[in-house]
Amino acid sequence: MNDKLALPVGTTLDRFIMRKQEDFPFATGELSQLLRDIALAAKIVNREINRAGLIDVTGAYGQQNVQGEEQQKLDVIANIRFIRALRNGGEVCTIISEEEDEIIHTGNNKGRYIVAIDPLDGSSNIDVNVSIGTIFSIYRRLSESGEEGTMEDCLQNGTHQIAAGYIVYGSSTMLVYTTGHGVNGFTYEPSLGEFFLSHPNMTTPKTGTIYSCNEGGYNSFPEGIKNYLSFCKESGYSGRYIGSLVADFHRNLIKGGVYIYPATAKSPKGKLRLLYECNSLAFIAEQAGGKASDGTGRIMEIEPTELHQRSSLVIGSAEMVDKVEEFMKASVKAADTVTAN
Ligand code: AHG
Ligand code: MN
Ligand code: MN
Repeated sequence: MNDKLALPVGTTLDRFIMRKQEDFPFATGELSQLLRDIALAAKIVNREINRAGLIDVTGAYGQQNVQGEEQQKLDVIANIRFIRALRNGGEVCTIISEEEDEIIHTGNNKGRYIVAIDPLDGSSNIDVNVSIGTIFSIYRRLSESGEEGTMEDCLQNGTHQIAAGYIVYGSSTMLVYTTGHGVNGFTYEPSLGEFFLSHPNMTTPKTGTIYSCNEGGYNSFPEGIKNYLSFCKESGYSGRYIGSLVADFHRNLIKGGVYIYPATAKSPKGKLRLLYECNSLAFIAEQAGGKASDGTGRIMEIEPTELHQRSSLVIGSAEMVDKVEEFMKASVKAADTVTAN
């Protein structure tokens, strides 16, 4: 038999999830099912995105979300798709979504999991054929099963995540996730309708030469960030900024780099949301050997007090994140000295 005529297609996401489950003797399979539910919704959203120019799904939906942001039609579609998949799956009792003011009770009160999700990340890039994404985190509920999930279940800090991931709808569509045992990436094969393992055991370089930051807000950045950006320029680093967090993060994860979204005059606490943007990617970054900070400390240790809480975010290669923190510390020290004088 000449095997070279028909090379194997590789490991599907489903098979990979199943194999991983077998590594845990007491696993019930619920988390595996939940990850499969997310993958199914991702395939559907991917289809909608790919047809975006052909059917009437681009443009504004005509409403704002709780954060005062203009919702795009695809934001709303992705939100419906993911919530429906999670509700139908039955493992999730409660969902936190960027597009919904309040927590969503799925009616599956026996479900043991909480999901926080940004159904579509990078809204401003939808209509212009630039990469967009989905970001999610999974937590185990703290409250007794049998009742609706509680606010306390939803406001757990990032160290309690049991899984997190993202989908990047780009030049190819990829799903990347972690359950706390490393990071694995899968590429979508549209003709077969399956995600295949393409990036096993992803690790991020310790350092890099890419910095990603919307410097439009520069004038109101904290001094430490301004100084770090000067350092990047003096060092000859490349500036790369797509404006879709998922896509910027994904590139830097593979190539090495740092993504920075600091506090600005417009967003004094930072723009990105702690529960379904910062924590999710922080878990992946750490599992890949990188770091995530708010400029002063570890993202995943921030105690959330609100569903749609915002945070500054510095994420990527470990040595670069450390460097940003050093610059932040130095600028605070310098400011203290001036005040003391
Ligand atoms: P979302 O589309 O989910 O609201 O997220 C947008 C976020 C993030 O994807 C991106 O990195 C950032 O906003 C871009 O903000 P600026 O336009 O201020 O650079
Ligand atoms: Mn987002
Ligand atoms: Mn979004």
